[in-house]
This record gives sequence, C-alpha cells and structure tokens, in this order.
Amino acid sequence: ETMTTLILGQVLKFHGSPFEAPPEATARHDSRGAVAVDGGRILGHGPVDAMRAAHPGAAEIDHGAGLILPGFVDAHMHYPQTAIIASWGKRLIDWLNGYTFPEEARFGDPAYAAEIAGRTLDLMLANGTTSLASYCTIHPESVDAIFEAGAARGMAVWAGKTCMDRNAPDDLRDTAQSAHDDSAALLARWHGQGRARYVITPRFSPTSTPEQLEALGALWAAHPDCLMQTHLSEQTDELVWVAELYPEARDYLDTYEAHGLLGARGLYGHAIHLTERERARLVEIGAALVHCPTSNTFIGSGLFDPSLFGTHRVGLATDTGGGSSFSMLRTMAAAYEIAQLGGTALHPAQLLWLATEGSARALHAEDEVGTLAAGAAADLVVLDLASTPAIAQRAARAEDLWQAVFPTIMMGDDRAVAQVYVAGQAMK
Ligand code: GUN
Ligand code: ZN
Repeated sequence: ETMTTLILGQVLKFHGSPFEAPPEATARHDSRGAVAVDGGRILGHGPVDAMRAAHPGAAEIDHGAGLILPGFVDAHMHYPQTAIIASWGKRLIDWLNGYTFPEEARFGDPAYAAEIAGRTLDLMLANGTTSLASYCTIHPESVDAIFEAGAARGMAVWAGKTCMDRNAPDDLRDTAQSAHDDSAALLARWHGQGRARYVITPRFSPTSTPEQLEALGALWAAHPDCLMQTHLSEQTDELVWVAELYPEARDYLDTYEAHGLLGARGLYGHAIHLTERERARLVEIGAALVHCPTSNTFIGSGLFDPSLFGTHRVGLATDTGGGSSFSMLRTMAAAYEIAQLGGTALHPAQLLWLATEGSARALHAEDEVGTLAAGAAADLVVLDLASTPAIAQRAARAEDLWQAVFPTIMMGDDRAVAQVYVAGQAMK
C-alpha cells in the first residue's frame, strides 16, 4: 500500500540544458509549489493549488520558503579518502604516495571499509548529495562496503574496484587477470541489485600495465551497459609520466582508447590539460568529462576550461579527498570561481544543473536521478536560502530566484540543507 505525499516549498525544475539555451529559459520556478511523491518515485510537480487538486487527500510536508531541487549527484569521488581529506602540502603523485595509498591499504579490513563507507554517505547526505559515483580500493571488500552502505540508506550508488597493477605499493597491487576476475565477480554480485550500479574502474594509466587496461577493456566490451571511470590529464607531471610509460600512445586519451577504454559510457575525471585531438575525440564519442573544481585548486592541478561545458558532456564532482569538500554547494562555488578565471561567468541555473542533471547525464541516469521529472526516484534536497546571517542579509536584497539562490551557492554549506529525501524518505 502506498500513499501520495506532497512536499511543499519553492520548486525549481529544468526542462533543458542551460548550456544549450538561455539559462533562465530552461528552468521553471514555482514560488509556492509542490512535488508529489509516491512509492519512492516522483509523480509530478507544479503550483501547490494545482497539485492539491490533482492529489486530493495527499499527506503534506511543508518546507515553507525552502527551495526543493533534485538531490545533488556527485559524479566522481573516492570514499576511501574520506578520512584523509584536507591533507596538507602535496601535489598529485606525492599526495597519492604520501597520504592516499597508505590509507587505501586499510580497506582490506571489512570493518574499517564499512565504517568509512557509512561515514561518507552520511556526510554526503548531510550536504544534500543523494547519489554518487565512487572509486573504491583494490580490495573487493571495499566494494561490498559502499554498496551495502548505499542499500542501507536506499541510495543510488555507482562504484567499482579500483584496479592497479604497477606503480603502487605491494599491498595495493592486483594483476591484469585478478583485476579482471575480481571486477567481473563484483559486477555479477552488485550491478543492478536495487540501486547499485557497478563501474569498471582502472585508477589511471600510470598505475595499470597495458595488459591490465586491455583486460578491463574486454570486461567493458562484455558488459557495455556498465559505466567505466578513470582519470585523464589532471596534472602536468602526470602527463609527462604517462608519455614515458606509453611511448606509442598519441596522447593520454589514446592510452585508454588503444585498450578498449574509450566509450560514451566512460567517465573521464579532471580532463584539465587536453590536446585538440583529445577534445575532438571525446565529443565524437560522447564521453563524459567530470569537473572536480575544488580538487583542481587544492592539489594544484590547473583550471578546467569552461568552454568545455558548451561542447562536451560534463558532470560535476567533489573528488573527495583530492577535493577539499563533501559539499556540492562548495563545489559549485569553486566551479564558478574557476570559470571566472577562464573568462566565463556561469549562471546559477548552470551551476545547479551541473550538480544535478548534468552529473546524472554523465552517469547516463538522467531519467532516474538529478531530475524532478515524473517517474524519477524521489531523491530531493531542500535548501534554506537564508541559512546563515551573511547569506540571509544578501538574499534579502534579491530581486529574483537566481539572486536569491546564488549567495547559498557561493557561501552555503551543510547548514543550508534543510532536508534531504532518498526515494521519498526524509533522511534527517
Ligand atoms: N589520479 C589517480 N588517482 C587519483 C586520486 O585518487 N585522486 C585524484 N585527484 N587524482 C588521481
Ligand atoms: Zn579522482
């Protein structure tokens, strides 16, 4: 037996990409609206009077002036790095060796993996993020842990075993064969179980042999409905290293392309230092880039080119713990700042869209998450647009919704998250 609930507040709904049309024309705003939810799914939304007429007898939860949006979608993060977020003073390769690999080595312990998986998802929910694509560690136990934590909370989780068979410590290396076989077994166990989706996950070209990339390319070819996630052109030292390790490759992207790891369902994290060929090829394939703005600056990688938003499929992500925040609000603020340095002022509609439907499109899941469309999961965030005195005094001057929400994008944190719903269930 199910019962319809109307969730009341300000409602903001996109009906197109704000990178393909004037941003304000792609959104509909009901200042007194409602989202109808039943059985964990969105039935529809609209002005509150119309929704009451359409759903007589529905229960109501009223968030007042709270802004109801689809829950945020974090398209690239590393849950095993939660406990080492904000580690001081290193750039990518030293950061991996000095902070990341020692921490990831602990995830063969299922109890520790479960502790950090649960902690991560609770932090994400507190920040309004309702689904995520996460790397795990080389340990199959780390994959079980995040999917179990997701299932316990009803969350849609995309994740996979991080594969590395070189340039990593002894206790963090698999082989081409074991990476393939362990990934295949985890895929069989988890892919499509409830809201779990398996993602084939070679960490990046420097930590895989060509044989391992080839084996994972074959696995992807056998399971073409899966996503594949990896890193691409993040830091200049890394580019030099990749060129040394793969002397025959035309460029960084070619190290993936040559081994069956370039496809429309591929997620390429960072993509900061791209060549013209790489840009053109990524468009041609329809592959997704994932912009991780707090990580661009925190580990000193460089600045994502904002012109890519108009040409490529782009998701938005925290990259925790190379990124410095669990919050997609802080991540939107960083995206705004980085685009400003690139000569582009992203509109608030564009920022909110990137954190919801943009990331969902990167995951090829825009019918399921990151949207208020009827039939999608009722994964929602409700933002308090006056969550601190500093934000409230600026929002009080706002002349329209965009001015009202932008101070929360720029200055908001978990205090701005008034409520979060996962499959229609209130989580706080
Ligand atoms: N490149 C390879 N592994 C990682 C990682 O864990 N974080 C970041 N930011 N970049 C990477
Ligand atoms: Zn990453």
